[in-house]
Amino acid sequence: MVVKIHQLTRWKQTQRAIAVLTAWDLISGQIADQAGADVVLVGDSLAMIALGYDTTLPLTLDEILHHTKAVRRGVKNALLVADLPFLSYQTSVADALRSAGRVLKETGAQAVKLEGGYPRMAETIQALVESGIPVMGHVGLTPQSVNVVGGFRQQGTSPETADRILQEAIAIEKAGSFAIVLEHIPATLAHTITTTLGIPTIGIGAGPQCDGQVLVTADVLGLSDWQPPFARPYVNLREQGILAAKQFCEDVRSHQFPPQRDR
Ligand code: KIV
Repeated sequence: MVVKIHQLTRWKQTQRAIAVLTAWDLISGQIADQAGADVVLVGDSLAMIALGYDTTLPLTLDEILHHTKAVRRGVKNALLVADLPFLSYQTSVADALRSAGRVLKETGAQAVKLEGGYPRMAETIQALVESGIPVMGHVGLTPQSVNVVGGFRQQGTSPETADRILQEAIAIEKAGSFAIVLEHIPATLAHTITTTLGIPTIGIGAGPQCDGQVLVTADVLGLSDWQPPFARPYVNLREQGILAAKQFCEDVRSHQFPPQRDR
């Protein structure tokens, strides 16, 4: 089934949970799509997963365009969403329109995701949606603000910060977003947001009562050398990959590969 944006709201209404996986290249896009993910997100986590940066901050718009084009070639059914990188949209509404417009025009992604919901960001979301660019919001732990919040730690743990996140989520829905990511917040807060909003909530480290869940595919496959506490590796491809590559090296050195008959 080819997933369109309005389908996500229908799934929320019928309580059919939404599965979202990230991707950063052709193969991860194919894996996520062929596994039946409803949404494939080219998250800016690719800065850390695929490019080796310590945070998502150094990622450029050109890099997200490059990676999203590769993922696009592998995704046939899922809705394809791409993150707007740090400072490609916070600087002005005009910059946000230019950046998001390039993502849709040049990559074939169907929507963008951006972080934050404070009044200025809600204005930006409204301008994008009015220009024909669907937007997924993102509140709670917003990794592009890691230097402001002082680390990748849980957000919304006090009544004041919980209320601020709820208000941001409401502003994002009002601005026209079609879905919202809730990252690393208490499950009770995620539940409140999920029952307050009409748009689907996609949780990551936000408990089981969101309308959907997202994980970074490298974490699901056990490829990363570090995982957040809320991730779940379903297989350890990193260990299996190292063993397989090691076997190849040994086979070359012992003349077991290629087999004699192929020489
Ligand atoms: O960048 C990313 O991969 C994300 C998801 C974790 C939601 O934003």
